[in-house]
Amino acid sequence: MKKKALVCGAGGFIGGHLVSRLKKEGYWVRSTDLKENEYGNNGADEMILGDLRNPELAAAVVTSDLDEIYQLAADMGGAGFVFTGEHDAAIMHNSATINLNVLEEAKNKKIPKIFYSSSACMYPEYNQLDPDNPTCSEDSAYPAAPDSEYGWEKLFSERLFLSYQRNHGIQVRIARFHNIFGPMGTWTGGREKAPAAVCRKVAETPDGGIIEIWGDGRQTRSFLIVDECVEGIRRLMNSNFSGPVNIGSEEMITINDFAKMVIGISGKKLSIKNIPGPTGVRGRNSDNTLIKEKLNWAPTQPLKNGVKKTYIWITEQLKVSNKRHSIIH
Ligand code: NAD
Ligand code: GDD
Repeated sequence: MKKKALVCGAGGFIGGHLVSRLKKEGYWVRSTDLKENEYGNNGADEMILGDLRNPELAAAVVTSDLDEIYQLAADMGGAGFVFTGEHDAAIMHNSATINLNVLEEAKNKKIPKIFYSSSACMYPEYNQLDPDNPTCSEDSAYPAAPDSEYGWEKLFSERLFLSYQRNHGIQVRIARFHNIFGPMGTWTGGREKAPAAVCRKVAETPDGGIIEIWGDGRQTRSFLIVDECVEGIRRLMNSNFSGPVNIGSEEMITINDFAKMVIGISGKKLSIKNIPGPTGVRGRNSDNTLIKEKLNWAPTQPLKNGVKKTYIWITEQLKVSNKRHSIIH
């Protein structure tokens, strides 16, 4: 018998990659999202379009024959979306409602196991003030002080999932993702994260030009290629460990050095201009001690490999989009 999985948020970036992976592993997969995945349905056996804020949709997609649910649907974006404050109410309302609806149906239908995608944004700001020495170990989550409402919602929902595990016996698996990037991720439109935004800026700027980077460029992050994120999700789901556990890279880099890396890959000569913008925490890096201990695994791919693939993919997207634009005008 094939295992049956539901992927919520399959029209999005990580959800889309996860569907492909589950299909390769021989699963029967139902996808659901507000929208189709613009790069194809990744071989899902069923795609149900709808709004998971609506409890009736949640009741329709969560059927009692499912073995596993992967809950990735959320109102989500990079610094330009989550750190401006403009979308706080929508982010909290939409994502919390989705989680409440999906979990309640998982309980009603007695689904054995559910995965939840939390975020490194739930870690306290006070541990991420020094760009060279941020602390993001799982046990540093409390006293809680995330710097965004997006992070507070993730923390609330982690607790929600764990309370359903305690009171209703659903097996829960929670990962805290650290800035996941790669082909088929959002690369334009305002929700894109730094890796895609910087690749796009470099790709669209002529040789000799200038790219703009938000902040002083000394803020640090680590970025994880999506293949390794999906590998981590599957390993966590197959383990006996509930989490929460970091799924991220430990290869920390300043944003300006990241921009220099992309410029190097492009072969162009470009300069960087640091401008004011939403910056989020000063420093962030994954701490992979716990994942190594519990799953005997951690991501290993060098950042540069993933950035090369992503830069090439975004260059192709720009060509397609420019071609479309020139046909319309
Ligand atoms: P994404 O935006 O590409 O995917 C999320 C999907 O959820 C979208 O396709 C969106 O249409 C869908 N969605 C939103 N509201 C919905 C609703 N009401 N009903 C049905 N579907 C709805 O984002 P992603 O990068 O693939 O992230 C997946 C998950 O991982 C999210 O929960 C996100 O918060 C979390 N996460 C991602 C990162 C990252 O770096 N990508 C980091 C931390 C956490
Ligand atoms: N998005 C973006 N676009 N960021 C830029 C840009 C740009 O053009 N230029 C510089 N940056 C800087 C941001 O100011 C920020 O300091 C840093 O690059 C990283 O930005 P993002 O990649 O957008 O977001 P983040 O790392 O602060 O947070 C993201 O990752 C979390 C998980 O680690 C967000 O996507 C969160 O939603 C997510 O949970």
